[in-house]
Amino acid sequence: MSDVPAPMSASLRGTAFLGLGAMGAPMARRVAAAMPLSVWNRTRDKAEALADVARVASTPRDAARGTGVVVTCVADARALEVILAGPEGLLAGLEPDAVVVDMSTIGRAAAREAQREIEAVGGHFVDAPVSGSVGPAERGELLALVGGAEPDVERATAVLHTMCNRILRAGAVGQGQALKVVLNGVGAHHFVAFASMLALGERAGLSREVLVDAFTSGAFATPSYVSKRPRVLARDYGNAEFTLALALKDGALNLALQEEVGLALPVAREIMREMAQAVGEGLAQEDLYAMEKYFARR
Ligand SMILES: NC(=O)c1ccc[n+]([C@@H]2O[C@H](COP(=O)([O-])OP(=O)(O)OC[C@H]3O[C@@H](n4cnc5c(N)ncnc54)[C@H](OP(=O)(O)O)[C@@H]3O)[C@@H](O)[C@H]2O)c1
Repeated sequence: MSDVPAPMSASLRGTAFLGLGAMGAPMARRVAAAMPLSVWNRTRDKAEALADVARVASTPRDAARGTGVVVTCVADARALEVILAGPEGLLAGLEPDAVVVDMSTIGRAAAREAQREIEAVGGHFVDAPVSGSVGPAERGELLALVGGAEPDVERATAVLHTMCNRILRAGAVGQGQALKVVLNGVGAHHFVAFASMLALGERAGLSREVLVDAFTSGAFATPSYVSKRPRVLARDYGNAEFTLALALKDGALNLALQEEVGLALPVAREIMREMAQAVGEGLAQEDLYAMEKYFARR
């Protein structure tokens, strides 16, 4: 009999979750309810808040130790780069053959760069950005937009299912990000339409209640309009589920994709310009729909 333990399959080894922000924290809590989990966050307090259900790791390297699937959900491409690199980074601790599943919105180019770095140390990469917000994250009702090789996606599926009730396969690595960036472009048109037309309607003497009723029950009502209804009626844009700063980051990813594929979309570009101006006027950390304040100031 050999003393050497048989290698465990990736799905049987533990899981790690790095990046416990507005989205990451509820997502990690759902993973922890289903399997052993290590968590790490740059600001340690947010990881300690999960100590009742997960092992709190001291570094990304420590979090990755002994795990077959590592999930990341951080703000942007720069943040992912930071947690991958360095002596205490994720790449330094990645187990051979482990799968890194990035659920941040970072764009296609950054996903492909992460794939190169992870494969260079013997790992695998899947991009799985999500559609949905904090509520769906708490309920396990996110939509995952997934890019990656079939066997890698298969190994990530059990973990993804703890957080997502739908998984859309978009193609090879990076195509999940391409789909997310395109989808967020639709979202930007939506919320800017709501915010600007609310401002116009109020300026025309219509009441906020009547306008919001029309927007959330008429022919153009969408689930996102309906879910924002209480916030808009209360003008409550603090404690954002999704900040305007993150939306602007996604807008820049959309413009980058337009340039990469050689398709210029001036309306989308103008929406991004308006968002950048609103951020410049102090709305960065407020909810997306705070754009109405920006339009109403004119
Ligand atoms: N919020 C939504 O409704 C929503 C929906 C779909 C997709 N997303 C996407 O999901 C991702 C996370 O969003 P979120 O709303 O959870 O954002 P968030 O609340 O701002 O959290 C950002 C996370 O990234 C970490 N981070 C930022 N810069 C870092 C760095 N340089 N090094 C290490 N960690 C860093 C933060 O750590 P600290 O805690 O230390 O700051 C935090 O854990 C984003 O890509 C976003 O676009 C969000």
